[in-house]
Amino acid sequence: TVPFKQAAFSYATDLTERARLAQAVNTLRFEGEQVLGDNTDGAGLVRDITHNLGFAVQGKDVLLMGAGGAARGVLLPLLSCQPNSLTIANRTLHKAEALAQQFAAYGKVQASDYPSLAGGRFDLLINATSSSLHDELPPLPPRIIAPGALAYDMMYGKGLTPFLAFAEANQATHLADGLGMLVEQAAESFYVWRGIRPETQPVIEMLRKA
Ligand code: ATR
Repeated sequence: TVPFKQAAFSYATDLTERARLAQAVNTLRFEGEQVLGDNTDGAGLVRDITHNLGFAVQGKDVLLMGAGGAARGVLLPLLSCQPNSLTIANRTLHKAEALAQQFAAYGKVQASDYPSLAGGRFDLLINATSSSLHDELPPLPPRIIAPGALAYDMMYGKGLTPFLAFAEANQATHLADGLGMLVEQAAESFYVWRGIRPETQPVIEMLRKA
């Protein structure tokens, strides 16, 4: 995990496509001399959103905030869900543009700065910035949350992150933090190693209670 995903990426002798595009590895499988590097973060996020939260991504307008490693890691699995549009917003626009360009072959993806989001409406908003770590909020304009929207913060902790508090105050219908993603990426890694998909619901419930 952080900060070893780049080191693991370099260490792997072979890479899955999702790890190659993420440029980060969170799962290593050893087979003789071969070390397969995989990345289950995006699959974990998508599984939490679609299965645990019951939110269909297909046909939706998606906003992904951030253009660092966390955002890069989830782009391929998100685009595989065939959203109507995927907008990457970042304070430093050129980083979002570089990501959008790199993933253009995999779906409808565009870059934006935060002020230019004004006037848009998003069904699914995902915070992949590190803003919550610093108790900060990405500079989102008001009224960009569509009715029925899901606001998802990849961070987790006690109470609402600043982004989730913003989303609640701006009438997001569903709020979720990244605890489900944490469990789902681990379950997906277990599957890569053992070929067995562990049941995640009891683990998520246990962690919530703890
Ligand atoms: P990670 O690997 O967790 O993605 P990173 O590569 O350092 O970490 O990227 C951090 C991301 O969070 C960047 O997209 C950063 O935006 P900039 O590229 O403009 O710096 C974003 N970020 C951090 N704090 C933020 C804040 N308060 N508001 C908006 N974006 C923020």
